Amino acid sequence: AGSPVVLGIESSCDETGAGLVRDGVLLGQAVASSMDEHARYGGVVPEIAARAHLHAMAPVVDEALRRAGLTLADVGAVAVTTGPGLAGALQIGVAAAKAYAFSLGVPLYGVHHLAGHVAAATLDGGPLPDPCVVLIVSGGHTSLLLVRDLARDPVVHLGDTLDDAAGECFDKVARILRLPYPGGPAIDRAARDGDRRAVRLPRPLSGPNDPPYAFSFSGLKTAAARWVEAQRAAGTEPNVPDAAAALQEAIADVLTRKAVRACLDHGIGTLVVVGGVAANSRVRELAERRCASAGITLRVPPLRLCTDNGAMVAAVGDLLVRAGAEPAPADLSVDPSAPL
Ligand code: KG4
Ligand code: ZN
Repeated sequence: AGSPVVLGIESSCDETGAGLVRDGVLLGQAVASSMDEHARYGGVVPEIAARAHLHAMAPVVDEALRRAGLTLADVGAVAVTTGPGLAGALQIGVAAAKAYAFSLGVPLYGVHHLAGHVAAATLDGGPLPDPCVVLIVSGGHTSLLLVRDLARDPVVHLGDTLDDAAGECFDKVARILRLPYPGGPAIDRAARDGDRRAVRLPRPLSGPNDPPYAFSFSGLKTAAARWVEAQRAAGTEPNVPDAAAALQEAIADVLTRKAVRACLDHGIGTLVVVGGVAANSRVRELAERRCASAGITLRVPPLRLCTDNGAMVAAVGDLLVRAGAEPAPADLSVDPSAPL
């Protein structure tokens, strides 16, 4: 009786994630990361990521089950990220998901990685109101979306980045500042001791004639790089905390201003912020402040649900199961460049 326990599997980048969800409730999850193995290359190495997924997959699934107090026999459906992401990394997850689903004799569902990030918000605070505005900010994507029923309706793009993603900007500037990979968390930490007004950085696409919901971050990266170069050319090492604080401020300012504006323009009372960059302390702070003063309800998942994980994939699977969606065919394949 009731809906089945859904096992969600995520392997699109450098996190191997497994999560168990039933009826919108997170029962347990586990994540292993190969981040440290990529650090000395300054970015994710696809081959290393795929191999790490292969090693981590079964232990991570077992650990998620253990934390949920369940066994494989309790799993009633399997959901897996099919894209977008690294092809080899995705293939490990899909192969594992097929093996679990077929050996258990349960249905399999393919999940879009970004739908997973959005659904992560349902695991903290319950179902999302229909409609809501979603700001999705990760290493690969920066979009403002109008979301209705995730399991049934297509997502409407209000605006996207025209060049780099916000997370990419954090990562690239961190590299210029010689901070460790991944750059976002490193900038967040460094910024604590910085003065955000010490370095003047632009607010791209924020003029009256610019598209209101589109983003651009490559110019911000260039401006930060120029400032660093000018400092070094003058023989002074750049003040890293100041640069980090100023960059974080510029990104958080543009993201939250446009997201709140999208809510007000469309008469929508709830803003959801998801994806790795939603873990940023200044993004969270400004989003809270601006939503509060605009009378908008803010939903931001806890940190562990913001970065890549299997629970968010299970959450989409759970929505699909309960909506009566058709399971994936036996030859389900990966879609590394899936559009949302
Ligand atoms: O969603 P995610 O884990 O993976 C993708 O689907 O891309 O997002 C990873 C991105 C990276 O660019 C990382 O630097 C950024 O999220 N990130 C942060 C923070 N934590 C993770 N950026 C800024 N501040 C943070 N605290
Ligand atoms: Zn992600």
